[in-house]
Amino acid sequence: MKKDIRKAIIAGNWKMNKTPSETSVLINEIAPLVKDAGCEVITCVPYVDLSAAVEATKGTNIKVGAENCHWAESGAFTGEISAAMLKEVGVEYVVLGHSERRQYFGETDETVNKRTKAVLKAGLKPIVCVGELLWERECNITEEVIARQIKLDLWDVTAEELKNVVIAYEPVWAIGTGKTATAEQAEDVCAFIRAQLGKLYGEEAAAGVTIQYGGSMNDKNADELLQKENVDGGLIGGASLVAEKFAAIVKAATVN
Ligand code: PGA
Repeated sequence: MKKDIRKAIIAGNWKMNKTPSETSVLINEIAPLVKDAGCEVITCVPYVDLSAAVEATKGTNIKVGAENCHWAESGAFTGEISAAMLKEVGVEYVVLGHSERRQYFGETDETVNKRTKAVLKAGLKPIVCVGELLWERECNITEEVIARQIKLDLWDVTAEELKNVVIAYEPVWAIGTGKTATAEQAEDVCAFIRAQLGKLYGEEAAAGVTIQYGGSMNDKNADELLQKENVDGGLIGGASLVAEKFAAIVKAATVN
């Protein structure tokens, strides 16, 4: 992490876990443990939990994020939620292009890009997820895959807008599998992402972008990962559902 030039962010991605009442309970457990955080702390929760999360985080240093968002402002999109709806509820961040959305719900770089632009237009901050599949890594095309995702997902996003974009590098083979990328693997790809951003937006703009690592990050391995220069935080799944583990990761980001 390089906190002198970019924001360190630890974000929980709760996925499809916790009801609204359980949300309040978990945030009430997390809040006192992270009150002295030396990084930004976010909980990204299911749509129906957002109001409970906003309420429970009032007066704390925890920000609230959603886990997806539709690209249209309104219209005939049954079951979808717009950026304006999220904004009015009190959301600040939105996870986009998570590999589970890409794998199970047909997300493509094109739709991730449309969502990213809609979120930025509404004044929210996207956490854009990129990452390679295991066989793509084995075929030695990790960099091609990541370069393509970065270029397409951020297509038409301006340098000014980039200031509000967070990138999460999440190797698909490391998500929920207990197989964390080594700190070196995480650093290599996060540095590569920054270099790609540099090509698209210039080095100074790229140096200011927060790039998180995600994929089985936990209270045990966070310290080593966060010591790396280009790993500016984490997007945490499983470990974000246990207050003590999530707080330990926030602490690792505070110390590093
Ligand atoms: P995990 O999930 O920490 O459970 O691997 C990370 C993510 O999917 O964002």
